[in-house]
Amino acid sequence: MSDIIKAPDHILEAGPFIYADILDFKNLQEIVVNYRVDWIIHFSALLSAIGEQNVPLAMRVNIEGLHNILELANQYKLKLFVPSTIGAFGPDSPRDPTPDLTIQRPRTIYGVAKVHAELLGEYYNQRFGLDFRSLRFPGVISSDTNPGGGTTDYAVAIFHEALKTGRYQCYLEPDTMLPMMYITDCLRSISEYMELPAEKLKMRTYNIHAMSFTPRILAEIVKRFVPEFEMTYKPDSRQKIADTWPMRFDDSRARADWGWHHEYDVERLCQVMFDALWPQYRPGKQRTKPVSKQ
Ligand code: SER
Repeated sequence: MSDIIKAPDHILEAGPFIYADILDFKNLQEIVVNYRVDWIIHFSALLSAIGEQNVPLAMRVNIEGLHNILELANQYKLKLFVPSTIGAFGPDSPRDPTPDLTIQRPRTIYGVAKVHAELLGEYYNQRFGLDFRSLRFPGVISSDTNPGGGTTDYAVAIFHEALKTGRYQCYLEPDTMLPMMYITDCLRSISEYMELPAEKLKMRTYNIHAMSFTPRILAEIVKRFVPEFEMTYKPDSRQKIADTWPMRFDDSRARADWGWHHEYDVERLCQVMFDALWPQYRPGKQRTKPVSKQ
């Protein structure tokens, strides 16, 4: 695992962790050689909302960084995974559901860079035989990492705020539906997909889906765990981004070609998020039993 920032203790304890700068090609070569790297999972990117605030930096990290990784993977014959996203679609794409192959005209630098990555990766695969693989993820939700400048971040922040203050001001409108996925499903999809023999893959970029919900739906479920919870709405520039994204992914090809299936729906997601975050915000306080739906 690598980053340009210091790792917390639990990451250091989990295995090797090194400094790597996606913009420093020599540094990347050195790492591949010294550690005899054979696969790369390339996560570095500025997300959709933060990318709009610093387009030049997003161009460097999301586009130049990808160029470095593709070249590196090609040079050393590495297997390469690059995540793509619901953000790779735009207002001209069908939204409910969004198929794998359709119009992609995203309106964020993040989305443009992801379409660029999908196309270049597929080109390197055909032209040079690079084992490039990509999955288009929904908004990914986890209790380990803090919201990081994405349009789907409300679905992480809501859990922290519900436990901390009992309130959350949502920057999306109540009925904005977006696809989401719990981190465990996301990580499992990557390892299952990367382990597949190449002959199984009919495409190099697949949509994968788990659940779709709106802020209103999520707030209702959160209320079952934190009955005093109140959500208010104050849409900002992220609403404009969300309005152009898929509401639901059609992932039938991933399910048919290589057996993709999700294990976490929205109810189970809420359960695990509260299980993980409750002790952090309400230590020693008896965990309320979720009030069942009327
Ligand atoms: N979670 C990302 C974002 O909101 C989408 O891939 O930017």
